[in-house]
Amino acid sequence: MIEAEGLGKVYWDGDRDLEVLRDVSFSVERGEGAAILGPSGSGKTTLLNLLSGLDRPTSGRVRLDGVCLSELNERGVAELRNKRIGFVFQSYHLLSEFSALENVMLPALMGRKDKGSARERASYLLERVGLKDRMKHFPSELSGGEQQRTAIARSLVNDPAFLFCDEPTGNLDIQMGFEIAELLGELFVKEKKTVLIVTHDERIAKMADRVWNLVEKRWL
Ligand SMILES: Nc1ncnc2c1ncn2[C@@H]1O[C@H](COP(=O)(O)OP(=O)(O)O)[C@@H](O)[C@H]1O
Ligand SMILES: [Mg+2]
Repeated sequence: MIEAEGLGKVYWDGDRDLEVLRDVSFSVERGEGAAILGPSGSGKTTLLNLLSGLDRPTSGRVRLDGVCLSELNERGVAELRNKRIGFVFQSYHLLSEFSALENVMLPALMGRKDKGSARERASYLLERVGLKDRMKHFPSELSGGEQQRTAIARSLVNDPAFLFCDEPTGNLDIQMGFEIAELLGELFVKEKKTVLIVTHDERIAKMADRVWNLVEKRWL
């Protein structure tokens, strides 16, 4: 379960404070999918960063399955991120010098899984996202849709409880975006993951159990 309680985030913008989030509270139950909509600059990425422990809130707190992120040290957060959280980004964030298979294996190896079982799990997931014949390819040899499929496989390699997706179809054309949206729904729903997706995509929002809108940021 994801719980946000009174979350606030203020950035210092050189000469004034920029309040991006104020008093954001909500929860996503285990196995639920939630979508967050909002215009560009409304704080969607900021919110995902707070919820996934990448950044700390100015006020309020985040709990993931009851664990309060602000009570963990850096190492605790890093470990939780590796073991319990999967990410899918708009621009895929694959490492260009590694093959699709190696990209998917990496979080497993970072979590100190042995190479054999990491490879087995990564192959299985790449097959599930329809990339059986592309495993040895490098990101530059893959289409945008194939790169995002690889990133989706990577997000699942450590079997995380939580998945955070930041505009996962934002860089894809309409048809490919649709296929990726279907794949996300199918995989994440079937796997009973707790999912939070930031999106402009109505089709994704429609698949979610809940939808929230972020409104404009404020200058202080
Ligand atoms: N590290 C930062 N320092 C200062 N301002 C930031 C920082 N990160 C984001 N912002 C600002 O906060 C606002 C929200 O950004 P972001 O969360 O990326 O929005 P979204 O993902 O909805 O487009 C924007 O105005 C952005 O310029
Ligand atoms: Mg963003």
